[in-house]
Amino acid sequence: MATSSSFNGLTVQTQSHDYPIVIRQSGHLTGDSMASQVVPYIHGQQVLIVTNETIAPLYLQPLQDELAEQFTVAVCVLADGEQYKNQASINQIYDALMAEHFNRDVTLIALGGGVVGDMTGFAAASFMRGVNFIQIPTTLLSQVDSSVGGKTGINHPQGKNMIGAFWQPQMVLADMTTLQTLPARELSAGIAEVIKYALIMDVDFLAWLEQNMAAMLALDLAVLGEAVKRCCQYKADIVAQDERESGIRAILNFGHTFGHVIETHEGYGNWLHGEAVAAGMVQAAELSEKLGWLSADEVTRVKRILTLANLPVIAPPIAVETALRLMGHDKKVKQGQIRLILLKSLGNAVLTSDFDAQLLTETLAQSA
Ligand code: NAD
Ligand code: GLY
Repeated sequence: MATSSSFNGLTVQTQSHDYPIVIRQSGHLTGDSMASQVVPYIHGQQVLIVTNETIAPLYLQPLQDELAEQFTVAVCVLADGEQYKNQASINQIYDALMAEHFNRDVTLIALGGGVVGDMTGFAAASFMRGVNFIQIPTTLLSQVDSSVGGKTGINHPQGKNMIGAFWQPQMVLADMTTLQTLPARELSAGIAEVIKYALIMDVDFLAWLEQNMAAMLALDLAVLGEAVKRCCQYKADIVAQDERESGIRAILNFGHTFGHVIETHEGYGNWLHGEAVAAGMVQAAELSEKLGWLSADEVTRVKRILTLANLPVIAPPIAVETALRLMGHDKKVKQGQIRLILLKSLGNAVLTSDFDAQLLTETLAQSA
């Protein structure tokens, strides 16, 4: 078993080290604070909190003030947006570290969504050849996916997440109360990744989501907390088996190869990652149907749950040749062959290049 549930959260087991995901429902009731949760995982005296200009006014001050009682704390506030997930922002983090004369004992804290988390993790992986970092994910997407499993990195103008490193955090603090300030569109984008787990791993979870979607959209933190815990459990189990994505971990990219085409083509930040993944999951389901693996009713069920979550189910028009060229940059391409995550059935995904290229062309042409 890859995980245990002896506290409100679970443990991720990896070859580099094990670490906890703590799910915090309400600090106001229990008297704990974000800072008190992360302090045990800070080794050394130096802390750099990395956040962005949207999250800083919401959550930075209490965390910074409380940590400053025990540590030397500096802050790096980045511009907000996927379009800033680049080398210039990483340099800003290095600059903050160098300005403070921080050394290998520093702990970086990512306070924000997946963009802040991915970049902070990459800066931590590369600064002085690797320092500790902690994830405090503040979007649903980052709580269920990007903060867990150690994929860190930045975009290249020609491809998403093309530059990066595997670098595991010391802990993840998923504070459900931060979701109360998250824009509804971002909540839905996170739900796309939640639905992804159901489609690739657990059809019973799909039924659970169908029953609980309204509560999730209404920000019922208990229901959202349960969803986060289940998703982190699925992800932790996969990461424990395949930390570096040499096999099973690839299924977590269901919908992402199609989705990355949308994100890259439309310009980073115009389609949210989760929205692109949602439309991409429909394309992957449609290709699975063409292969005879899913029925038309099952594809309709996929579209229905995404629609319930206010997510797009139709990709924007992109010429087939352009889509295929963009797919060629995907990290799953092997010996020139596009490999895709497809569904053998609902709740059962496979990584395969064993499909007729014409069927992929037809799938892409549906939205071209
Ligand atoms: P994001 O980090 O851009 O956050 C979305 C928006 O919400 C931003 O404007 C942000 O400032 C704002 N925000 C964040 N928390 C908030 C809060 N509590 N209240 C109000 N506003 C808040 O986007 P995201 O969806 O969290 O992450 C997407 C990124 O994650 C992409 O770059 C994607 O490539 C990456 N990703 C990485 C992995 C991985 O395994 N590392 C997995 C999935 C996605
Ligand atoms: N989000 C895909 C992964 O972490 O592998």
